[in-house]
Amino acid sequence: MAHILELGGVTKTFRGGVVAVDDISLGISEGEYLTMLGPSGCGKTTTLRMIGGFEYPDRGSIMLDGRDITDDPPFRRPVNMMFQDFALFPHMTAAENIGYGLRIAGVGRGETEERVRAMLDMIELSEMGGRMPSQLSIGQRQRVALARALVNNPRILLLDEPLSALDAKLKETMQVELRHIHDRVGVTFVMVTHDQTESMIMSDRIMVMRAGRIEQIGRPTDLYDRPETAYVAEFLGASNMIPATVARDGAGAVARAGDLSVRVPDAGDAADGSVRSLFMRPEKIRLLADGAGAGAGASAFCGTVKELFFSGNAVRIDLEVGADRPVTVHHPLDTGLAAAGLPGVGDRVACAVGHDTLKLFDTAEVAAVEAEEAAA
Ligand SMILES: Nc1ncnc2c1ncn2[C@@H]1O[C@H](COP(=O)(O)OP(=O)(O)OP(=O)(O)O)[C@@H](O)[C@H]1O
Ligand SMILES: [Mg+2]
Repeated sequence: MAHILELGGVTKTFRGGVVAVDDISLGISEGEYLTMLGPSGCGKTTTLRMIGGFEYPDRGSIMLDGRDITDDPPFRRPVNMMFQDFALFPHMTAAENIGYGLRIAGVGRGETEERVRAMLDMIELSEMGGRMPSQLSIGQRQRVALARALVNNPRILLLDEPLSALDAKLKETMQVELRHIHDRVGVTFVMVTHDQTESMIMSDRIMVMRAGRIEQIGRPTDLYDRPETAYVAEFLGASNMIPATVARDGAGAVARAGDLSVRVPDAGDAADGSVRSLFMRPEKIRLLADGAGAGAGASAFCGTVKELFFSGNAVRIDLEVGADRPVTVHHPLDTGLAAAGLPGVGDRVACAVGHDTLKLFDTAEVAAVEAEEAAA
């Protein structure tokens, strides 16, 4: 499918020599929901602003529908941007807020009313068009702001951390709401966030950024399950990174650390005898019932419970396995575990982990990522 938007080698250096965006190339499909994810200062907003025309690249090109828009001012681009504070005009009703841009553009009264009504229906606020912003809840105000940004049918909607000011509960509701609205209108959304859960819930693809560059881009499940770098692995969720010695064989490698010995079919370029960081997602490790084996495609290991944290529907267990660090296991409190009873501190437990969930990363790279995280 042809791309609606293409960035080719886009670079932006600010005065003082800060390279905010460094050679980004990317194609976005029509109707896609793409999020740019990364820590503060990695260049997310700058990238978004260059798509919107509020900032110009000093190298590279931006193509929209096959047309070069690199040097076009914002008003020449069929692109709208929704800002974090999404300020509505306080002296205008919801309907007037939504229709404002159309009136400015000289769209007739009848058509404006029709399009505003369609937008109010779309955001499920049909009965509230006459209310002032102060008479709406924060979530409703945000939906009005979204309708205002969509009413003139932009080809692309840009959203810079649209939900970051909301409290946790409303944020969750709006994540689903925003995704539904995207699906209803079919407009291409490009959203910036630094919230990894949010990006996974909402988007078709996530672009993980690091220091102005694309670290990895892909579907949420691919990034989470098959991170290409330690940075992506650590950024998208909790991970064990256990220093382990690699023994290569015909079926990949076996990684060993203390009592831990697991098969890693995808051992990459890890050399025989080298030490690598063994990546294991805590929830991919299962506690085994008494006497049960790991089963095909999985390795079993034993450990001593060092600490246990109960969180209602799950339990987090830190296991001492005689390696440089404990292994963290995240286990749902399913009926099996509830019936068997939780282990206590000091108990020996057996676990299993599926081979295809494992990866080996460069230990120095892991240390660098952990130092970056600690500094942030
Ligand atoms: N107008 C500017 N002048 C100079 N430097 C800037 C300007 N805007 C951004 N920068 C710098 O460019 C880098 C990227 O900034 P950007 O705002 O794109 O980051 P971000 O990923 O959106 O971060 P955050 O999550 O904090 O919003 C940062 O180092 C920032 O200080
Ligand atoms: Mg930003």
